[in-house]
Amino acid sequence: MDVLRFRVVDKVAETKDSYSFFLKFLGEGDINYISGQYLPVKIPHEEGILFRSYSLSSSPNIDDLFRITVKREKGGKGSNWLCDNLMVDDVLESLSPAGDFFPKVWDTNFVFFAGGSGITPIFSIIKTNLLAHNSKIRLFYANSDKNSVIFSEELFQLQKDFPDRLSIDLWLDEENGIPTDSAFFEYIDKVNESQYFLCGPSAFMESVEKCLEKAAVPKSDIAIESFVGVLPDKISNGSSSSDKDITVRVLLNGEKKDIFCSENDFILAEMLRNGMNVPNSCGVGNCGSCICNLLHGEVILESNAVLDSSDEEDGWILACRSRPRSKYIEVSFDE
Ligand SMILES: Cc1cc2nc3c(=O)[nH]c(=O)nc-3n(C[C@H](O)[C@H](O)[C@H](O)COP(=O)(O)OP(=O)(O)OC[C@H]3O[C@@H](n4cnc5c(N)ncnc54)[C@H](O)[C@@H]3O)c2cc1C
Ligand code: FES
Repeated sequence: MDVLRFRVVDKVAETKDSYSFFLKFLGEGDINYISGQYLPVKIPHEEGILFRSYSLSSSPNIDDLFRITVKREKGGKGSNWLCDNLMVDDVLESLSPAGDFFPKVWDTNFVFFAGGSGITPIFSIIKTNLLAHNSKIRLFYANSDKNSVIFSEELFQLQKDFPDRLSIDLWLDEENGIPTDSAFFEYIDKVNESQYFLCGPSAFMESVEKCLEKAAVPKSDIAIESFVGVLPDKISNGSSSSDKDITVRVLLNGEKKDIFCSENDFILAEMLRNGMNVPNSCGVGNCGSCICNLLHGEVILESNAVLDSSDEEDGWILACRSRPRSKYIEVSFDE
């Protein structure tokens, strides 16, 4: 598995509870990424290594440095660790850039709906678009109050630089309450010639999605990035205990534990059900948090945005998307 190393070149407070980290790649050659992708970042938390995904707010077409922007999550381990502990000159490790929240075509018009830290991948796509393509762009950007608007200055500078191509509507809950459907409808292109990109809190994205559905926007014109993982209950088929005739031996933090699964179960869900404190975040194969090494047996890895074929040949799997395919399996999170 390729672990990338970056030097933190700058750390900038964007708002009272978010920081941008400007990162210089320390390896040889270039790392390619597309605006809208994220870095699965490795966090050396005192309770054990965590992986968390952070969208790249830099643009590969313009910015020399990589940039991620992290907003503190109340009670969150990874985001608070990064904001409190990651300093200029430190080295940050990550897996390769991943994700498919990016325009598949660029020569069209775009409507972006961003809420809070959901602006990060959208900011990158907007910059790339304005500076390397020719689209017209509308951004609806919702925040609770004016002090929590990430990239405010940079966005309004872009609007000044590209007045005919970028329009921004900043929605502040403190002034207007939460965004209404009629505000969203204003943003929906009546002739269906735009691509829509949504990233923000779940309730915000659900409301926008409903409005797009009502306006008969084809699903193929809508891209959605969710920052929130899926609960373990939702990632398992929940087989009955009599079906659980497969043994999974888990090596974690120097200890061994056997759990029992059926071939329909995702192994991460069963580990969590058995009270194991296994690293995990998205639950859907996107973030890399649950990477482990398959030491014995076979699994089927159902979806995966993080590992490449050589990682899989080396035995790396994602526990959240792996179902057993042999009667005895051994995985290690300690490799
Ligand atoms: C593709 C993708 C891109 C992302 N990009 C960004 C980005 O650009 N910027 C950004 O800021 N974030 C981004 N995120 C979110 C980020 O990955 C983290 O999920 C976020 O920072 C929270 O992580 P944490 O470790 O701080 O919180 P966690 O420790 O994972 O906790 C998350 C929440 O769950 C609660 N919680 C934790 N454990 C329990 C428990 N046992 N019981 C009940 N509640 C619990 C916590 O209190 C907290 O509210 C992205 C996520 C994804 C999937
Ligand atoms: S929990 Fe995100 S990849 Fe498995």
